[in-house]
Amino acid sequence: MSSIRGEFSSRFGFIMAAAGSAVGLGNIWGFPTQTASNGGAAFVLAYLVLAFCLAYPALMAELVIGRHGQANAVTSLQKLANNSIQKRFAFIVGFGGIICSGLILSFYAIVAGWMFSATLEPIAVISGSESATSWLGEQSLSRNLIFTAAFILLTVAIISKGVENGIEKWSKRLMPALLFILFALIAYVLTQDGAMEGVKAYLVPDFGSILDPNLLVSALGQAFFSLSLGTSVMIIYGSYISKQENLVSLGAYVTLIDVFIAFVAGMLIIPAMYVAQAQGVEIFSQTGELLSEDTLVFQVLPALFDSMGGIGIFIGFAFFALMSIAALTSSISMLEAPVSYAVEKFALARVHATRLIGVIVSVVSVTIILNFNSLFGFVVQLTTQFAQPLIGMLCCVFAGWIWHRGKLLNAIKEGNESVENSFFWKIWPWYIKFVCPLAIALVFINSL
Ligand code: TRP
Repeated sequence: MSSIRGEFSSRFGFIMAAAGSAVGLGNIWGFPTQTASNGGAAFVLAYLVLAFCLAYPALMAELVIGRHGQANAVTSLQKLANNSIQKRFAFIVGFGGIICSGLILSFYAIVAGWMFSATLEPIAVISGSESATSWLGEQSLSRNLIFTAAFILLTVAIISKGVENGIEKWSKRLMPALLFILFALIAYVLTQDGAMEGVKAYLVPDFGSILDPNLLVSALGQAFFSLSLGTSVMIIYGSYISKQENLVSLGAYVTLIDVFIAFVAGMLIIPAMYVAQAQGVEIFSQTGELLSEDTLVFQVLPALFDSMGGIGIFIGFAFFALMSIAALTSSISMLEAPVSYAVEKFALARVHATRLIGVIVSVVSVTIILNFNSLFGFVVQLTTQFAQPLIGMLCCVFAGWIWHRGKLLNAIKEGNESVENSFFWKIWPWYIKFVCPLAIALVFINSL
């Protein structure tokens, strides 16, 4: 066991790191495209409610388990177990989360690689190299392999530097850059023709669809993915928080930032689609729904950037740089989950553990790239729709049922003496005991 564990050096450092994990392609790509394909503002409303009422309590369960355990996810969960069966159960949940995290990284790195190459494409355009422009802009095996590898290497480079000098330092640099680019882009897009129609489509809810079960399933899945729940990532990040910090408010900040950025990203993407429409770009599918997913990001938006003339090159560059940064601060958290386990369990040096796991993830990524049609969607579904809600639910079960209530209170109380009389403590234990597991189970059964 390595005896010296990392710790975030400040509140701000933790918030940037955890928000960096939370804010990713899920916010800037996933949330707006889900909104587009689920009836606009009704989805936004469902998402807001579910994020605060279900995902935040589940996030708190993971954070407090980690901070109490002061160790990787498996060890932290095992510290709560009262007997050998529970211990084995703890291993399955913790290790399952770690594997899930590694698998998510392996597909996330592919998508992030697309973002990297799309960021470089405008530079190739400016430099006048036609062959580079078309290589960067078109799907090919060589391009996907190279950019996926580049993305994994960058993630490995940051994680091998450790908690304070790697995760925290880079999150503190990249998150403000992300916010700046995001707001600059919104300011520009909202001044364009057609943008206001998009704002309306985004913000005026169609209440008829709000109770649509599919909408709720998608919104809850989105909220879990967005807060990086059910993958042991928030357990490990929790374990790096000092016991002097108030967890209840830290978790609330992270949730607020995550939800806020998803919401704000929608203010960029949906109006941008209507601006594109005003420029003659097709934004509705044949069945009358807004185009979404990869068509939106790699066809509608680039067509919009093209139609903007000279400035479009810069806007396109800024947009994909934003995506790349968001992806990187998320991917480092995905890699930290298995690395922290390998370091603590097998007493490996961090650098070695990081490289080793980087190689394993790369092998999985390459396998997915080589069998894209059969594997990509499968791995996405397996991890995000199946494993994440299930493991997130089991973490709530650990905190709500296996952990003795008095001990749980003591763990939450550290850094927050008065929590016992707070509104939070009145409802949260009950929430993670009944409401979260039941709601997640319902959504889960529905999605099967
Ligand atoms: N939350 C990130 C996003 O919205 C994705 C993410 C980061 C993640 N770390 C994770 C998802 C761990 C699952 C598990 O894009």
